[in-house]
Amino acid sequence: MYRLKSVIVGRSVLSACLIFLTLMGSCFAGDFHDDFTVVWSRENVIVDDASRTVKLSMNEVAGASLASSDAFLFGSFSVKLKLIKGDSAGTVCSFYLTSYGSNHDEIDFEFLGNETGQPYVVHTNLFSNGVGGREQRMFLWFDPTESFHTYSVIWNHHQILWTVDDTPIRLHRNMESVDSGSYPHKQPMVVAASIFDASTWATRGGAVPTKWEHSPFVVDYKDFTFQGCKSSDNAMSTCTSNYQSNWWETPQFQTLDTNMTSQLRTIHHNYMVYDYCLDQRRYPIPPKECSYNQV
Ligand SMILES: *[C@@H]1O[C@H](CO)[C@@H](O)[C@H](O)[C@H]1NC(C)=O
Ligand SMILES: *[C@@H]1O[C@H](CO)[C@@H](O)[C@H](O)[C@H]1NC(C)=O
Repeated sequence: MYRLKSVIVGRSVLSACLIFLTLMGSCFAGDFHDDFTVVWSRENVIVDDASRTVKLSMNEVAGASLASSDAFLFGSFSVKLKLIKGDSAGTVCSFYLTSYGSNHDEIDFEFLGNETGQPYVVHTNLFSNGVGGREQRMFLWFDPTESFHTYSVIWNHHQILWTVDDTPIRLHRNMESVDSGSYPHKQPMVVAASIFDASTWATRGGAVPTKWEHSPFVVDYKDFTFQGCKSSDNAMSTCTSNYQSNWWETPQFQTLDTNMTSQLRTIHHNYMVYDYCLDQRRYPIPPKECSYNQV
């Protein structure tokens, strides 16, 4: 994927409205604000405060990428997205968390475009201590280009849950105690969004490249909402310990209840197109974590 540089390019000129919900939570429910930094090509980031949307666009010259200035250690992160209408083959839009520096951690949502009328694929991945290779891909049960849908990550001391409109699509449990290095738990992450060209791999494995005559490709992001432990706070101990006043750490987010488990099973059964845990060519012996994350 297009990688963020650890050197942030300037401060964003976008208007500020940061509403603090709690000491440790922030909710970007109002205007887009200068706590985001435009990392790549300011002209391709179009903010509309009135509708609380940010359009990221891509043409042959450049795509776009932004990142939160704040970094978080655990929390809940969501955004509403309306993906590229019509031909989006070769393009990837993303919403993800990433730490900076070497041996980075990363929690990804990537949306792989397709030819007009063909379905988008949601690609999720996880890097822990610099190691990724944990891809899952699935179709969605709706047309993500028609209207906004909510994509979220809840990351706490126990598990990472990816959801789409509150329906779980992926679970990754913290099994550090028996499988060291398999869970991001030490490095604060920023929240990022981007659009980039992935002609060589995104659509049908690269068989369908980006058709620039259909550019600009435009994706709408709306209502970024992050509630997490900000790493800049003095009270980092409330992030690193399993602090029960952080709602994302409470028992209902520590495991999946029976209903969520059965929802996740159904989603995987009906929509999964690729799971690294089942890729025997790549992993003749499935990674250890796979047995723990099975539902
Ligand atoms: C694009 O559409 C084709 C045909 O329906 C499908 O096989 C493929 O998985 C879709 N998505 C991507 C990202 O290639
Ligand atoms: C689980 O699903 C059943 C049937 O749909 C519902 O009646 C019940 O309230 C749900 N339980 C929880 C905890 O959501």
